Amino acid sequence: MNPQTPRGRGAASSSLLFVVGHPVSHSLSPAMHNGVIARLGLPLHYVPVDLPPGHLRGFLRIVRAGNFLGGNVTIPYKEEAAALADTRSEAVEVCGAANTLVVRKGKLHAENTDGAGFLDALEAMGWGRRFRRVVLLGAGGAARGIAFALGGAGARGIVLLNRHPRRAERVARLLSGRYPAVAFAGGDLRPQTLREEFRGADLIVQCTSLGILGEWENFPIIDVQKSSRFADIVYRAGGTDLVRRLRARGVKTVGGLPMLAYQAARSFALWTGRDVPGEAFRRLAVKALK
Ligand SMILES: NC(=O)c1ccc[n+]([C@@H]2O[C@H](COP(=O)([O-])OP(=O)(O)OC[C@H]3O[C@@H](n4cnc5c(N)ncnc54)[C@H](OP(=O)(O)O)[C@@H]3O)[C@@H](O)[C@H]2O)c1
Repeated sequence: MNPQTPRGRGAASSSLLFVVGHPVSHSLSPAMHNGVIARLGLPLHYVPVDLPPGHLRGFLRIVRAGNFLGGNVTIPYKEEAAALADTRSEAVEVCGAANTLVVRKGKLHAENTDGAGFLDALEAMGWGRRFRRVVLLGAGGAARGIAFALGGAGARGIVLLNRHPRRAERVARLLSGRYPAVAFAGGDLRPQTLREEFRGADLIVQCTSLGILGEWENFPIIDVQKSSRFADIVYRAGGTDLVRRLRARGVKTVGGLPMLAYQAARSFALWTGRDVPGEAFRRLAVKALK
């Protein structure tokens, strides 16, 4: 890491970064970003903002006018932030969700680093970025970001399975328009559907809120083939229930912490122009989770 001030116009006078959500007390982002900021000796501070529903527009007005370089957006504001920003990256346009906002000359630019951060994390683990057949569980903001990134990385087939299957079908149609060479499909989360779709999948990604908000019931653990790799984007010390059970069966697994770290590294680069290795963020996140 190279201790210099942030690059870019306005950087010297801008000193705040934020994560806005409700709740945010559980977020590891302040520990990661403030840890990196301290090591680089930058004149920045990253603050958590727990915002009650109905106030995002007002908060973003303050951000545009204030001393901010930008910030992160977490549940439940990723979709609203994408809509309220002044400009959007292609990932945000397609996914309809933003996890990063960058202040540029008093305007807010929306980005989504979740999908690219997810692929960076898999690559750092030696799993690569390109998969043949992927099954995504969920169709929310994170699943859409990951599907967008996997499509861009050359996956051949991507199936989204969701509690509300119509949402998954909608997302599959939307992404088919962007990546016509990728076979997208949507479906439900019934055990029978999971069993069928798991056959021949080289990557399965758990992108629902289960593991935090409740637990999976009737998950067909036994039908996950040992040749498949399993990523759960939810993070927990020691791994989620699914990660622990699949690991015990000999399936290669990863939890959500590496993705959290690598998306943070991408967001940090957007705000400051600094490329800090995702591994530095990961180590800080592991320390904060203990
Ligand atoms: N590791 C990381 O860096 C990282 C990054 C982003 C998100 N995440 C985690 O990923 C999870 C999803 O985030 P998100 O931003 O995509 O949230 P979101 O947009 O609110 O989507 C939530 C997803 O979970 C599903 N879901 C919620 N409750 C469910 C239940 N009881 N049974 C089955 N499915 C259920 C929803 O299905 P319906 O559409 O049917 O409601 C939807 O697919 C969260 O736990 C979040 O913390 C981790």
